[in-house]
Amino acid sequence: MGFKEPPVDEFIQMTDAKIKKLEELRAEAMLGGGEDKIKVQHDKGKLTARERLDILLDEGSFNEIGMLVRHRSHDFGLENHRYYGDGVVTGYGLINGRQVYVYSQDFTVFGGSLAEAHAEKICKIIKMAGKAGVPIIGLNDSGGARIQEGVVSLGGYADIFLLNTMYSGVIPQISAIMGPCAGGAVYSPAITDFILMVKKSSYMFVTGPNVVKIVTHEEISSEDLGGAETHAKKSGVSHFSSDNEVECLETLRELLSFIPQNNMEDPPRVECTDPIDRADPKLDTVVPERSEKPYNIKDVITSVVDDGKYFEVQRDFAKNISIGFSRLNGKSVGIIANQPAYLAGVLDCDSSIKAARFVRFCDAFNIPLLVFEDVPGFLPGTVQEWRGIIKHGAKLLYAFSEATVPKITVITRKAYGGAYDVMNSKHIRGDFNFAWPTAEIAVMGAKGATEIIFKKEINASDDPEAEEERLEKDFKEKFANPYLAAERGYVDEVIIPHKTREKLISAFSILENKVDSNPKKKHGNIPL
Ligand code: HXC
Repeated sequence: MGFKEPPVDEFIQMTDAKIKKLEELRAEAMLGGGEDKIKVQHDKGKLTARERLDILLDEGSFNEIGMLVRHRSHDFGLENHRYYGDGVVTGYGLINGRQVYVYSQDFTVFGGSLAEAHAEKICKIIKMAGKAGVPIIGLNDSGGARIQEGVVSLGGYADIFLLNTMYSGVIPQISAIMGPCAGGAVYSPAITDFILMVKKSSYMFVTGPNVVKIVTHEEISSEDLGGAETHAKKSGVSHFSSDNEVECLETLRELLSFIPQNNMEDPPRVECTDPIDRADPKLDTVVPERSEKPYNIKDVITSVVDDGKYFEVQRDFAKNISIGFSRLNGKSVGIIANQPAYLAGVLDCDSSIKAARFVRFCDAFNIPLLVFEDVPGFLPGTVQEWRGIIKHGAKLLYAFSEATVPKITVITRKAYGGAYDVMNSKHIRGDFNFAWPTAEIAVMGAKGATEIIFKKEINASDDPEAEEERLEKDFKEKFANPYLAAERGYVDEVIIPHKTREKLISAFSILENKVDSNPKKKHGNIPL
């Protein structure tokens, strides 16, 4: 007997029933942990996993993968609570027309906790993103390892950490923290390239306030221990902190606009309507007459880059160095600038670490580097020495040295001591090193130098104070300028400040097809 087709009406009925079943499953999955849990989430002032994706992605562009995944656990009665999606929404979509893979943890399902199936979903899309060569974005809102699934949950985390590591420097990886992120769970975001946090509703810590109280007897709130402000200002763990979730997701969209899809591509180029030769006469007087007086390096940056737009990263941490993205003639650049308005722009442990990681990100993703240098040197003292300024300063030196992207430095004022070498000097493969006429390039400042080398003369003088002043002035005139470095070719050109924009665009243009490489190796050993 052969297979007999059902009558057409019956067939349509059967198909309708099947489609209805799928629609019902989808509707159930869309509700995550259910209406009540969604209300609790909203009452906390938080969006749901899906609402966040709606804001993050271009309208209607989301394609979900793994909507019907459920856990397989039978412990602690979990078999009676098998939610579709298992607490994480995964898939792909577009941001400003460019493809991304995303996962968004759903706190309405077991508090967004991570276990076997949940982790498998995240791993699957990280691998898909890696193969496709597109960024992976994680929206984190989770109670951590799902307690009922025990060690399987821990294994799931480790699987994610491994993939984060394998794809580091291959595709951009970005983590937005939109709720709790505790315990070892913090280490996935920590390995990714950028962390964004939301003030008052997200926090990250290895151990929460209760454990802290037991172990160290400190009483501290979650917000103070690991909230957005704490990680933006004190620890430097996060890169951006926003007032609310919508602002956070919009920041994430903007961040991606400066970054290529993967390490084989260049960053996207946008049309530039800002004249290439736009000259800002204010630049000629921005550096104060007296070299110990501060000025704001961000005024220089915004005056030079396209449309004055500077997308600053880690704005509130280690403010003595400023890092961020801008465009020159429509092309992304990563900016590293000493900030004389804060601690005189000195290099210390935190600023070195901050800048080094940024330099490495830009180099990994083909984003040219632009350095504005005004640095009196490394910060002296026991605090810095005992914290390891030697190895932390070496991180920045190492990062600039190994970077092979186009690298340009503009010395606006001070370039003293070891810091002169570190800040992308010619000696560590700076492609173009420009100096303003206000530049002071020397082993150390005039005061320190005269005190050391003219100690005998000063002491032997009838008027030591006047003698010291005279020698200091003399030293300054002879050495605190850009011309000795220019004579040696350590500075390629001394430029008029208002011409900086035009010079930089021209120099980056000639470097567009630059090829440079490092000796073949498994990997280097950056001083960690
Ligand atoms: C299972 C969890 C859970 C978890 C929360 N839930 N965390 N279920 N495993 N880890 C569940 C709750 O039971 C609750 O279920 C629902 O999620 C919402 O949680 P609430 O406590 O009601 O929410 P809230 O008051 O907002 O508090 C959120 C919280 C708290 C601060 C995250 O739930 C919490 O402290 N959870 C435990 C956090 C934790 O210690 N995780 C382990 C970290 S160690 P019902 O059914 O009542 O709605 C870790 C190791 C990773 O993660 C290691 C990787 C190497």
